[in-house]
Amino acid sequence: QELQLNLEQIEKGGYDHFMLKEIHEQPDAISDTFRGRLLSNEAMVKLAGVEDNMKKFLAADRIIIVACGTSWHAGLVAEYIFEDLARIPVEVEYASEFRYRNPVITEKDIVIAISQSGETADTLAAIKLAKSKGAFVFGVCNVVGSSIARETDAGAYTHAGPEIGVASTKAFTTQITVLTLIALRLARAKGTISSSEFRHHLIELETIPKKVEEALKSDGYIQTVADIYKDATNFLYLGRGFNFPVALEGALKLKEISYIHAEGYPAAEMKHGPIALIDEQMPVVVIATKKGHYEKVVSNIQEIKSRKGKIIGIVTKGDTNVKELADHVIEVPETLECLSPLLTTIPLQLLSYHIAVMLNRNVDQPRNLAKSVTVE
Ligand code: G6P
Repeated sequence: QELQLNLEQIEKGGYDHFMLKEIHEQPDAISDTFRGRLLSNEAMVKLAGVEDNMKKFLAADRIIIVACGTSWHAGLVAEYIFEDLARIPVEVEYASEFRYRNPVITEKDIVIAISQSGETADTLAAIKLAKSKGAFVFGVCNVVGSSIARETDAGAYTHAGPEIGVASTKAFTTQITVLTLIALRLARAKGTISSSEFRHHLIELETIPKKVEEALKSDGYIQTVADIYKDATNFLYLGRGFNFPVALEGALKLKEISYIHAEGYPAAEMKHGPIALIDEQMPVVVIATKKGHYEKVVSNIQEIKSRKGKIIGIVTKGDTNVKELADHVIEVPETLECLSPLLTTIPLQLLSYHIAVMLNRNVDQPRNLAKSVTVE
């Protein structure tokens, strides 16, 4: 018994929980994921699975992304990135819906399946269906040799290392890293990005691990914020553009491990429903980084404030506008808009982690949830 406990403590590397360890591993996990693939000196992105199938990628009419849970959120971020950089139409599907919908799939479609475990039953079934209709299926998995990695025609692994906490953290940011590399490679091949812009993106992506490290330094302040709102019964998360999926992911993290009801919403869609819920009891986490529709998000924040909602803003370092309106602001370093999800996700992971710990929840193994869902 004692030996078992000690072993677990060693595995947690000095952290109280696997989730916290995995949150802090993200700078390394992201570098490990782009190592040997992002070659900024040569202004190149090299991914064997993409190079070997470049003809198929360039001929594709559209990309359909299938996934579940957090991986589905990474797919949504990828939709914005692929369309913006590589100008390829993208649809993102819940694997469980896609597989039973009699979807329209042809040989000209590329299906990208995203899965940390590589064992999710619905995602696996969606892949089999797409293959049977002649689509080329590309996998983005973390677990080497997993069922999905074996079933797909080609793929690119995330190099996040083992993820033990049920709530996914480093798998999410490394999935976004791989998908960004793919989008950049295709954008270059298609000529939808200039060589100077391409180079600029590579250099920026290379600095992300350092910036994640900087974002992690807000941990102490985030604990203070967590302590203030831990007894709230509902949370709202808002974001726009590339950060809309981050709002969904932030809400999912809070639900999963603290059991507090939370909803993620596109900020502008708030007026079509969730605004009715806002009163002085409602904490609203708003991703309001510079660039990405910043002014519009600031006006959404004003709407929340006039209804007395409590505002927790995720802002770009040095921001002053949101600071004047919000009850709390958590800063992240500046980066390109399409890379900002890799940074804005960090404080949301930490916020849900600290709230869950303060509520005495089983952070690494939340009730009713499984790390990999191998049944329907
Ligand atoms: C479960 C896990 C989630 C995960 C989802 C998809 O619900 O608890 O963390 O995002 O499955 O898993 P996958 O392994 O396919 O990414």
